[in-house]
Amino acid sequence: MDRIVIRGGTPLNGVIPISGAKNAALPLMIASLLTEDTLELVNVPRLADVQLLLRILGNHGVDHTVAGKRPGQSLETGQTLRLSARDVIDTTAPYDLVSRMRASFWVIAPLVARFGEARVSMPGGCAIGTRPVDLLLTALERLGAEIEVDGGYVIAHAPRGLKGGEIAFSKVTVSGTHVALMAASLADGTTVIDNAAREPEIVDLANCLSKMGARIGGAGTSQIVIDGVPRLHGATHEVLPDRIETGTYAMAVAVTGGDVTLAGTRPELLQTALDVLAEAGATVQATNEGIRVHRNGAGLSPVDVTTDPFPGFPTDLQAQLMALMTVANGTSRIRETIFENRFMHVGELARLGARIRLDGDLAVVEGVDRLRGAPVMATDLRASVSLVIAGLVAEGETTINRVYHLDRGFEALEAKLGRCGAQVERIRA
Ligand code: EPZ
Repeated sequence: MDRIVIRGGTPLNGVIPISGAKNAALPLMIASLLTEDTLELVNVPRLADVQLLLRILGNHGVDHTVAGKRPGQSLETGQTLRLSARDVIDTTAPYDLVSRMRASFWVIAPLVARFGEARVSMPGGCAIGTRPVDLLLTALERLGAEIEVDGGYVIAHAPRGLKGGEIAFSKVTVSGTHVALMAASLADGTTVIDNAAREPEIVDLANCLSKMGARIGGAGTSQIVIDGVPRLHGATHEVLPDRIETGTYAMAVAVTGGDVTLAGTRPELLQTALDVLAEAGATVQATNEGIRVHRNGAGLSPVDVTTDPFPGFPTDLQAQLMALMTVANGTSRIRETIFENRFMHVGELARLGARIRLDGDLAVVEGVDRLRGAPVMATDLRASVSLVIAGLVAEGETTINRVYHLDRGFEALEAKLGRCGAQVERIRA
């Protein structure tokens, strides 16, 4: 397995282009199942999760072509995917594929909405908590789908099509809202989603569905209203910038010091996180190109942060913030409210010399003067990248094992950091 070796201590200076958002690209790709026409997605990041989802969609009979620049040609240009679900041959999503990527479970919505049936493996356990799908299934039931679970598979039936209905989520759920949006777009009648997730990726999916002919109002607020249509058509849609990648590199600059422009991204996608960075002592400015982050001289101040659904502080930046706070001048408190067991990075950060105490969903981070490089590994994507951030500031060499987690969600990480002066090298297995 590949490893990444970082020699810490160099400030970052330059420009980092921000890729299209993984967590928008995945539901957008799944939405291609809603139409027999071609869906063209521009600015799709080159990631292992995107490749895996192409395989999963291919298994259903979705054809795809990739246009645009080839991998390695440019960090600035994402790929253009054309997806055609004209000849869907199989409405089953098997265990061996779904178990490798949770989001693939979401195919259940377009399949049952367009074909009246879907058989999708339960996604199973996950490193960041139990992550059930009960809210997704309740949403589909509210639209008239009959759901049964058999042999580890969820079987959804709606032989006469889905019907509009009222969906009131008991908890804010991104996955539930994506599924409800896709299913309701092809349901007969009006659907109201209450307590909907407001994440920018929800708005991106809703915008794309609208281009495909869906009638959606209120995306980005807690109440979304969808007037179902009998069929959707093809469209071209550009994937929005990745706010988690943006926030990750912003924290990398805050920890090392330096001056970096994060190009092609927008502050309103992660304002809460940028505010926290400013509180910690980084200077953050919106520019024509994107976001400029710099920090010179002065140390980092500790912060008190709780993760929350958008527009709150994102759980997907919690591990990275914790890495930053390991070297702050004082004690930070970071509370994780979205996923239980999303603190796997704590033990690994401790290997680098961090002082972190866990108390249920609270991490108390006592800033230390310096971290020291060590071999580390992590079991999920954001935890892995938090170790990269820590490695960038640690003295000496940090080796990050299990790099495949990073490849799932960060396009060209070494190249992007390397061209800003970081000493980051991939050792191929
Ligand atoms: C999405 O996961 C993201 N994944 C996650 O990013 C992100 O951490 C999460 O939203 C929160 O922002 C993708 O977009 C592909 P949820 P999702 O449904 O949709 C509970 C990453 O690193 N819940 O909003 O699965 C659930 O257990 C990933 O890129 C139920 O109880 O998250 C959690 O506690 C990791 N029942 C909370 O709701 C359900 O049926 C929020 O989950 C569904 C969810």
